[in-house]
Amino acid sequence: MWYPSSNRDEERYENSDSFDVTRNPEHQAFGAGGRHFCLGTALARLELKILVEETVKRFPRMTMSGEPSWVISQFSSQLKHLPVRLRGS
Ligand code: HEM
Repeated sequence: MWYPSSNRDEERYENSDSFDVTRNPEHQAFGAGGRHFCLGTALARLELKILVEETVKRFPRMTMSGEPSWVISQFSSQLKHLPVRLRGS
């Protein structure tokens, strides 16, 4: 699998470059249930859930404050910078 193209198949998905957590149940993030399905899925999901819940709780009015930039890589598609303004309630 070529990671940067995962879930971005324009022949399969409308708006293939948009982030859409509801897109389908077969997303590739953890290996899509295949032979090498991620053994750490449950831990990673729990960590991410807590990260998002606690961040939103602490900074409920957090907003983006600049343009995101991306890591230039053949291997993965990931954010390098995502400027945000942290604001509490
Ligand atoms: C957000 C966090 C994570 C993501 C996105 C992720 C993603 C993936 C993906 C896509 C694969 C499949 C690779 C392939 O098909 O070749 C994989 C495999 C694997 N992951 Fe993760 N992973 C995460 C966290 C973790 C954690 C926390 C652990 C361990 C505590 C872990 C352990 C493993 C192992 C052992 C495999 C290999 C399974 C095998 O080949 O049978 N991962 N992961």
